[in-house]
Amino acid sequence: MKKIQAQKGTKDILPSEIINWQFIENVAINTFNNANYQEIRTPIFEATELFSRGVGDSTDIVNKEMYSFEKNNRSLTLRPEGTASVVRAYIEQGFFRMPSPQKFWYKGPMFRYERPQTGRQRQFHQVGVEFFGEEKPTADAEVILSACNFLNNLGLNHLTVEINSLGCNKCRSHFRANLKKILLPKLDNLCDDCKMRYEKNPLRILDCKNETCMKELTANDIEEFIQSDFICEECNEHYSMLKNYLNQLDIKYIENKKLVRGLDYYNRTVFEIKSNNLGSQNAICGGGRYDNLVETLGGPKTPAIGFAMGLERLNLLINQKKPSKLDYFIISSNAIEALKLVNLVRRHNKSADFDYSNKKFTKQFEKAAKVANFALILGEDEIKNNTLSIKNLNTSNQNTIKFSEFLKSL
Ligand code: HAM
Repeated sequence: MKKIQAQKGTKDILPSEIINWQFIENVAINTFNNANYQEIRTPIFEATELFSRGVGDSTDIVNKEMYSFEKNNRSLTLRPEGTASVVRAYIEQGFFRMPSPQKFWYKGPMFRYERPQTGRQRQFHQVGVEFFGEEKPTADAEVILSACNFLNNLGLNHLTVEINSLGCNKCRSHFRANLKKILLPKLDNLCDDCKMRYEKNPLRILDCKNETCMKELTANDIEEFIQSDFICEECNEHYSMLKNYLNQLDIKYIENKKLVRGLDYYNRTVFEIKSNNLGSQNAICGGGRYDNLVETLGGPKTPAIGFAMGLERLNLLINQKKPSKLDYFIISSNAIEALKLVNLVRRHNKSADFDYSNKKFTKQFEKAAKVANFALILGEDEIKNNTLSIKNLNTSNQNTIKFSEFLKSL
């Protein structure tokens, strides 16, 4: 029969790799719990409209990358990101009625139909936080700080934090007009997507990865629009305060005026954290403020900010950890006694296994040496005398003790 293979852009995460995944997940639990974020788990599929309205219909995610399907005349979509779902839950579960701020973190698989390459998959995993109910830049600083602390706790340094401010709706319209003026003479040469973006969301043209578009937008143009100081006084103050907080917190950052992010919901602060060791897919974290999204999705006006990180990319940066060995491997010719002992040990919260097919002792010792720190030997003599021999598999020291003493030692 023909073998069935995993789909392009998806991967099995194998037992040899899982230790790194569990390490990252445990660091996430500690870091985000310590910072008073509560874990939330939302469904993997949602109404398609959540993403078309939430993420925005001028984005590649909504236009080209969603896994959507019909079921019972409803259009459903495998979530391409976590923010829209958390906002939906925030509104649906009435969190907006609870005291602010409300802080959530999440992890799980996301789905985007993209061209797979190192660090880019069609099913990938994110860990992220969403912080609702505070418009002050202290929230922006805390969210960026939490991202940096998480990465530090994973042992990842030498990363670059890039920040920018997209302004608010008011000042952004001025900025859009300015940008459109710069782009107009180049419009014919831009890719079809950017021609569409020119009307819908010209900011996104700055993020286009098409080579012709990147060439068209010369350093001079960028310089020109950087100098066109578009953000209003309030947004400027918000941004300046954030930078001041980051300086005080000793978080090194660079300002990247071209940073606009690939999702439509952002306003004011946007940020990314990049690594130099990942080739073209170098963004390990992306986030920003989205003060209008709760309202866009039917809730009350609520300021919010968050980020998400790609776990596959974090995994590429973390050294492969060694799986820890079992505490005990039971060596016995008596399967029932071995099963009883393995059960007893595990009930004392120690890890243990044994040889299920009653192989010769030499074979059992070979297996034990590979997988465990200690061998517990339960031969005929030990069973008769109510004793147990313990062999340290690292030093080969062996001694025999009363069974009751062993139990006490557990
Ligand atoms: P995003 O920039 O689309 O933002 O994704 C965040 C991170 O997910 C990226 O920096 C990257 O590490 C990872 N990522 C994205 N696509 C892929 C892929 N195809 N394969 C592997 N990793 C990938 C968001 O998703 C926003 N929801 C972040 C956010 C939260 N903004 C506010 N709150």
